[in-house]
Amino acid sequence: MNTQLRSSRVVIIGTGAVGTTTAYTLFLRERVSELVLIDANKDKALGEALDMNHGLPFTGGVKIWAGDYSDCKDADVIVIAAGASQKPGETRIDLLKRNAGIFDSIIKNIVQYNDHGIILVATNPVDILSYVSLRKSGFPSNRVIGSGTLLDSARFRYLIGQNKGINPRSIHAHIVGEHGDSELPLWSLANVAGISLEFSEQDREEIFNNTKNAAYEIINAKGATSYAIALALDRIITSILQDEGSVLNVSTLLTDYNGVSDVYLGVPCIVDGSGVRQVLELELGDQELAQFQASASKLKDEISKLDL
Ligand code: LAC
Repeated sequence: MNTQLRSSRVVIIGTGAVGTTTAYTLFLRERVSELVLIDANKDKALGEALDMNHGLPFTGGVKIWAGDYSDCKDADVIVIAAGASQKPGETRIDLLKRNAGIFDSIIKNIVQYNDHGIILVATNPVDILSYVSLRKSGFPSNRVIGSGTLLDSARFRYLIGQNKGINPRSIHAHIVGEHGDSELPLWSLANVAGISLEFSEQDREEIFNNTKNAAYEIINAKGATSYAIALALDRIITSILQDEGSVLNVSTLLTDYNGVSDVYLGVPCIVDGSGVRQVLELELGDQELAQFQASASKLKDEISKLDL
């Protein structure tokens, strides 16, 4: 069912596992009218676009092509999924040096053609690279968004659903902070129909560890993650293009948020056609607050090492 209401263009920079799976998700669900793939490896982008175009007789009307940065001119959303991805045993922070290096040229090329769109960062470490994108683009913070802990929260909801025998769509639960090893679960907010969920200490430990370590497990098994992050990016893009105002745990710039400022972290935000319309201030318990601030400090320490 074609859910896009007006002509819209999404540009995806990086046609690796995340970029191509996101493109295919948007293509299958007909979220956009135009989809442009950009990659330093032009043949890769061309091949991905050709392969999807040959499926058009089975799907619908999305125009998709391999393009270049000039195609960013009319883009509503520009997804950055380019760069190195985690190898077995690597943390997301381990990717920072390599990926921050390529962001210089990526952001420069984007802003050369586009000063009004929304930048959506997926490349890891996503929170830090979202901050880098904000600083280098000069865009207002509402228009520079990271995928954040939306994916982690989805994993958390899935694992809680498995534990309780309830469909994950009926589970409301949040992972906030870094999309990475310092993320934290908000057990106090986990609920079904507004009814708080109770867990044994053992279940809490198992559910959160499996949530936090999910990417490592998948990377060890198949080399990279792709499907769930693509669906998370689709969710964010759709909330933007449809001006939904959905509450999503995206990575956004925090200012005096539970004592945290000048860093990107995943927290519940209202996402609409303007990007992040509002950051929702969570009430954190003492232990949650300490963990949240520790997550912020870890990322700010890494940011301080960058030449911004
Ligand atoms: C993951 C990647 C997207 O968590 O960081 O699957």
